[in-house]
Amino acid sequence: MARSGNAAVTLTLVAFLCVASLLVVSEAALRASVAPFERRSLERNTWQNPQVYSQKCPGDPDWYWTKPKNFWNLYKSYCNPQHLPLNRYGNYSEMILNQQGISGFGSYSQYFTGRFTVKAKLPPGNSSGTVFAFYTSSNGSKPDHDEIDIEFLGNETGKPITMQTNVFVNGMGNREMRHNLWFDPSDGYHEYFIQWNSAMVLIGVDSIPIRVFMNNEAHGLPYFNKGQGVFCSLWDGSKWATQGGRIHIDYELNGPFITQVTGFGRSINGCRVQSERNVLGCQYPGPTPFCWERPPHLRLTRNQKHLLRWVDQFCVYDYCKDNLRWPRENMTKPAECNMIPY
Ligand SMILES: *[C@@H]1O[C@H](CO)[C@@H](O)[C@H](O)[C@H]1NC(C)=O
Ligand SMILES: *[C@@H]1O[C@H](CO)[C@@H](O)[C@H](O)[C@H]1NC(C)=O
Ligand SMILES: *[C@@H]1O[C@H](CO)[C@@H](O)[C@H](O)[C@H]1NC(C)=O
Ligand SMILES: *[C@@H]1O[C@H](CO)[C@@H](O)[C@H](O)[C@H]1NC(C)=O
Ligand SMILES: *[C@@H]1O[C@H](CO)[C@@H](O)[C@H](O)[C@H]1NC(C)=O
Repeated sequence: MARSGNAAVTLTLVAFLCVASLLVVSEAALRASVAPFERRSLERNTWQNPQVYSQKCPGDPDWYWTKPKNFWNLYKSYCNPQHLPLNRYGNYSEMILNQQGISGFGSYSQYFTGRFTVKAKLPPGNSSGTVFAFYTSSNGSKPDHDEIDIEFLGNETGKPITMQTNVFVNGMGNREMRHNLWFDPSDGYHEYFIQWNSAMVLIGVDSIPIRVFMNNEAHGLPYFNKGQGVFCSLWDGSKWATQGGRIHIDYELNGPFITQVTGFGRSINGCRVQSERNVLGCQYPGPTPFCWERPPHLRLTRNQKHLLRWVDQFCVYDYCKDNLRWPRENMTKPAECNMIPY
């Protein structure tokens, strides 16, 4: 789907698209009971404002903050640049999906730990078959690749857009979770984040954590050990995305599909690696210069735990609870399912 040729990141995307289109979500997922969709928003919460992450922390290395950050400093379009019509400041764009192709961009650099965000407003109306993805990934062509995914699965007008998350460590994924959120992601802008440090990965929206994946290396489980790029794409997931693949994309009826994206200036706060397989420069033996590697981010706060439990009610699929899946797919349930989640 993506035009090949120029960018190294293209390979990663193509690989990802192929993988993603094969991710057939289990029947149990489809049968899973659906939490009632309520358009209510959180009144207030006391978790920290995500903006703190884009400010210089005391002790941050100066080189990291000297560059002005807009789209062009960080990202490039990896296919169909005309499907990503950036404004003149490089701080806003539409991502356009139509018969002519998909839209996607990826970071120039790879990072090992950091906080990655995109501010997005998803396609309104009937977005059946579409997938909007924001994710980090090492080279997806390698069998041991690492990846952290947020994917929004389009739906019919009035039906909830589903947020699916997944985590690959050393090539092993199968960790899908799905949430039908407490707001409609096509109603307005929200900032979606992936925060990855040596203790855990936290995935969430605005200031609300939705999912946590702990570093369980101390218990013998693998954790991320490669540099990852940051990617964003809007593409056709007809085969699997909407209502289990029953409703395909219809460009004539519902297209073009447009996701509005902004917030690039603060979208990458990460430790840049020179090469994917050499992350030593980002593994600090002593005190780290990066704020996401310092308290309070090394463990969940009481309030975050409280919010995670609150978010549970919006979960419509959890791989750890899908007991029919593992025997059917001849796999064993990922080991973290047997541990305390957080
Ligand atoms: C990704 O991995 C594949 C397979 O090992 C390799 O052919 C390709 O060059 C790699 N891409 C990059 C950008 O390193
Ligand atoms: C983009 O930058 C311009 C110039 O600084 C500013 O006026 C505008 O509000 C920004 N737009 C967004 C969406 O951030
Ligand atoms: C779409 O809407 C249906 C019906 O409300 C719901 O069961 C499903 O979770 C929603 N999301 C997807 C991706 O199908
Ligand atoms: C939404 O679009 C799909 C085609 O993608 C179509 O099959 C479906 O009937 C539409 N739903 C509504 C409620 O219009
Ligand atoms: C699971 O393993 C059994 C026995 O080896 C085999 O017959 C079956 O086809 C496998 N199923 C899948 C989905 O791979």
